[in-house]
Amino acid sequence: MIRSDVDLSSANTLGLPCRAERFLATDDIGSVRDALRQAVKQGWPLTVLGGGSNLVLHPWLPGLVLQPTFTNLRFEEAGQGEVLVHVGAGLNWHVLVEALAERDLWGIENLALIPGHCGAAPIQNIGAYGVELADVLEQVHLLHLEDGREAILGRDDCAFGYRDSIFKHALENRVVITRLVLRVSKRAQPRLDYGDLASRLPAAPSASDVAAAVSAVRREKLPDPAVLGNAGSFFKNPVVSAEKARMLLSRNPGMPHFPLADGNVKLAAGWLIDQCGLKGLREGHVGIHDRQALVLVHHGGGSATELLALAQRVVGEVQARFDVTLEREPRLMGETAR
Ligand code: EPU
Repeated sequence: MIRSDVDLSSANTLGLPCRAERFLATDDIGSVRDALRQAVKQGWPLTVLGGGSNLVLHPWLPGLVLQPTFTNLRFEEAGQGEVLVHVGAGLNWHVLVEALAERDLWGIENLALIPGHCGAAPIQNIGAYGVELADVLEQVHLLHLEDGREAILGRDDCAFGYRDSIFKHALENRVVITRLVLRVSKRAQPRLDYGDLASRLPAAPSASDVAAAVSAVRREKLPDPAVLGNAGSFFKNPVVSAEKARMLLSRNPGMPHFPLADGNVKLAAGWLIDQCGLKGLREGHVGIHDRQALVLVHHGGGSATELLALAQRVVGEVQARFDVTLEREPRLMGETAR
């Protein structure tokens, strides 16, 4: 049932105040289709909400906010030690990570404890500790918002990049993702190159061991949204030319840098912000996390406008000091006033 004037402040992990003009959470595909038809007929703008963990919400979302809550999970033998996992868009991502790790299925254990719903994972191509969703994604099932027609995209149709996909470009705000299909493996294939992950694990770790170690690292560095409002990394790690990286390294020999296959170099936005002395900063109701400068936090009582002003200050200081432009990672939605 579509409800009116619904408070979404606990439906976004930043905890920003927001109301939806209309809101429908449903696990019934027929109801999703009916709602899409009605929205088109009435001219309501449509917003699709997942777990709300990668969003900056202005106070007012006009039209209809749709939250798919399908949580079905099915395993299909694919031969050669591989398994296809069919998962509903509304299942919590970490619940999926645990379900696979428990069954000793390998592929997404490095993505433990990433907040949000499975359906949102392809949008930003979630990634951590050397693994990205694109590494295991087989299909994305979706409905087009304009007419409810169903489509299935294969991995190659999704234009995946670093924190990027077709869902942030050609299909932005045009589809509702209903289901993912992932290809995972029964064979042990730990990927432990990132940071000190390997040193936290026994010689032949299980998928559960890896998920637990990743969870421990995340808990040490990243604030729990249940305790302190945040949307994970607020900026993407910037990519610069090799020449620019050399110039920056000559002045900052300790600067973390990661050469990419195309010759460019990825820098650590957290390090750049930290060097500007901004870690732990608090401005009014918002601030910068004291253990990871890449995470902006909301202490409560603030607004998207306040948070975006802080983000702008961060962008300005990094630009002035390093001549590197940081790009916001979470998506901005809604309107500043009714
Ligand atoms: N660093 C600092 N100060 C800081 C933060 C980082 O000096 O305040 C340095 C670290 O010491 C390290 C480097 O920067 O040398 C990179 O830091 P870290 O390993 O913590 O990773 P990150 O690049 O800051 C990225 C992802 C995270 C992901 C981790 C682990 C992005 C935008 N962020 O962070 O993803 O968990 O790697 O793979 O790519 C997210 O997207 O929400 C997220 C948390």
